[in-house]
Amino acid sequence: MRLFVAVELPEAVRDRLAALGGGVPGARWIEAENMHLTLRFVGEVAGPALDDLAAALDGISGTPFELSLAGLGQYGDKRRPRVIWAGLAPSAPLLALQARIESAVVRAGFAPEARKFRPHVTLARLKGAPPDRVATFLAEHGLFAEPPFPIQGFTLFASHLARTGASYAPEIRYPLGA
Ligand code: 2AM
Repeated sequence: MRLFVAVELPEAVRDRLAALGGGVPGARWIEAENMHLTLRFVGEVAGPALDDLAAALDGISGTPFELSLAGLGQYGDKRRPRVIWAGLAPSAPLLALQARIESAVVRAGFAPEARKFRPHVTLARLKGAPPDRVATFLAEHGLFAEPPFPIQGFTLFASHLARTGASYAPEIRYPLGA
């Protein structure tokens, strides 16, 4: 199974993010049901490694906290944008949770993540999208505001790749502060 650990977003938040989508040629917009905030991509996992991973994640404790979305951005070359994302307001509890998850994953036997954690919610993947249209989209929607929302746990997701795009299914939910 291709696995990753993420925070689930309230349906109302996902719906409002999905409603921003449109108006950029070459963009494939992520459906509301597939939006999430990835804390750690794990990759292909099978057999006993899955049990070790699940057990290590189960050992993580924490308390619920609030998150706020903040602004939009893009990844990729300025002339060849690849992704449009929504950012998160800086959050110490989010960083602390991500760090605990990273250590748990490493304790379970997986290689440490080399890349810096950049919390984001992917809104669209781009193929040949004109940079000026992406810039216009970011300028038009960048100031959207969302009330803070509660995070009460994290989730081990399975990613299913298909020609029409990936879809994600929750495998195990880990509550915080239960
Ligand atoms: P992305 O949305 O920024 O691409 C499932 O693929 C989730 O894991 C996505 O949220 C994806 O982030 C994230 N992810 C992080 N590193 C990844 C990698 N090396 N390969 C695929 N997905 C990765």
